[in-house]
Amino acid sequence: MNLLKLAKNFWIDYSIQRTFLGGRVESIDGREMMYDSVSTGYNHTEFIFFKYYSIQPNDVIVEVGCGKGRVINYLLYKGIKNKIIGYEINVRLANLTKKRLARFKNVDIHSGNILENFPSEANLFYLFNPFKEGMMEAFKEKIWAIRNCNPTMLYFNPTCLDVFNDARFTYNILNLPIPFFGFDYKLAIINIKEL
Ligand SMILES: C[S@@+](CC[C@H](N)C(=O)[O-])C[C@H]1O[C@@H](n2cnc3c(N)ncnc32)[C@H](O)[C@@H]1O
Repeated sequence: MNLLKLAKNFWIDYSIQRTFLGGRVESIDGREMMYDSVSTGYNHTEFIFFKYYSIQPNDVIVEVGCGKGRVINYLLYKGIKNKIIGYEINVRLANLTKKRLARFKNVDIHSGNILENFPSEANLFYLFNPFKEGMMEAFKEKIWAIRNCNPTMLYFNPTCLDVFNDARFTYNILNLPIPFFGFDYKLAIINIKEL
């Protein structure tokens, strides 16, 4: 990582959570059903939420597995005032993130499995590889159950996109450049199909 990027990461981390948030945290299940906690880059968050999607005033944003909260940091850093709800199954991580973001009244962090406490009023879901196929199937059914909210999913690096090859859903895939590694990541924007 170049020094400029590191400095930018530190600046945004520190502005919002008053500490540096780099580094990976191991999955709580040894990667059986879930992935390690690795943060979406701030540059990718800019692409995802401000270039490829445009946040609307009434959007209620849910981050599925918010980890250390860098995505939420970026939204706050950009002045987003929408309701933002982060769910994190790693209780220790969730509690730290919750404490550091407590001063932002539009943010709630829930500790636990989102599948066991699913939000009923949200419409914009962000996922960066929280879990694998089995949990993604269950997640899809939870989304289907709140279809009256017209949910949109922004699924970054969508390793389980096959789950949404389902007549009830539709998606577009966009490229996100990662110049440092010399390849592109994908972003899938998934919606419920009008039936
Ligand atoms: C790859 S990390 C992404 C972190 C953050 N979303 C980001 O993009 O910066 C995925 C996170 O999802 C969490 N997670 C996995 N399954 C979950 C579940 N069922 N409910 C809530 N969090 C979950 C993991 O513990 C991990 O912190």
